[in-house]
Amino acid sequence: MNIAIYPGSFDPITCGHLDIITRCSKLYDEVIVAVLNNSSKSPLFTTEERIKLIEKSTANLNNVRAEGFDGLLVEYAKSKNTHTIIKGLRAISDFEYEFQMALLNKKLSSEIETLFMVTSESHSYISSSIVKEIAILGGSVRDLVPDEIICDLIQKIEKRR
Ligand code: COA
Repeated sequence: MNIAIYPGSFDPITCGHLDIITRCSKLYDEVIVAVLNNSSKSPLFTTEERIKLIEKSTANLNNVRAEGFDGLLVEYAKSKNTHTIIKGLRAISDFEYEFQMALLNKKLSSEIETLFMVTSESHSYISSSIVKEIAILGGSVRDLVPDEIICDLIQKIEKRR
């Protein structure tokens, strides 16, 4: 089995993430969307909620599953019997940080490979924080997050008010 790990915070999953996951699912036998637990960011959704939102958004992709992880990404990848980490690149500004992470992961475990997938142009300006800000301010998040999770996002923000 050719397995790829697509890691991140996914708070929440956006159309940009879904674009990468969908394209990846055509290249690998299985894609594991790995949701970071205990992030230093204070998330809007719990890890379990973020996993459910990914599952809802990827229900039509049979070879994609989502799960939470703690600790080092390279150790998690090894525990899943894969050496492949996929990261999305939106703009040149992502590159420096992603390059540093890829090199550090390589230093931590030489057999791990980080592969970069360029985000589609139409999604290059999306981030989870921007999407949350728009939703909090009452703007439309259509085409920014998958249709399946729009209600969950709006309800969560209303509950927080
Ligand atoms: N489309 C839309 N948005 C995207 C995107 C895409 N294709 N790719 C990334 N983003 C956005 C995210 O929404 C997020 O936005 P936000 O800051 O507004 O929330 C931002 O880019 C950063 O992504 P995030 O998911 O937070 O990932 P990260 O690049 O900070 O890395 C891990 C997350 C899980 C990969 C990293 O923290 C990790 O590996 N942790 C494990 C501990 C470890 O091994 N540390 C050593 C690493 S060298």
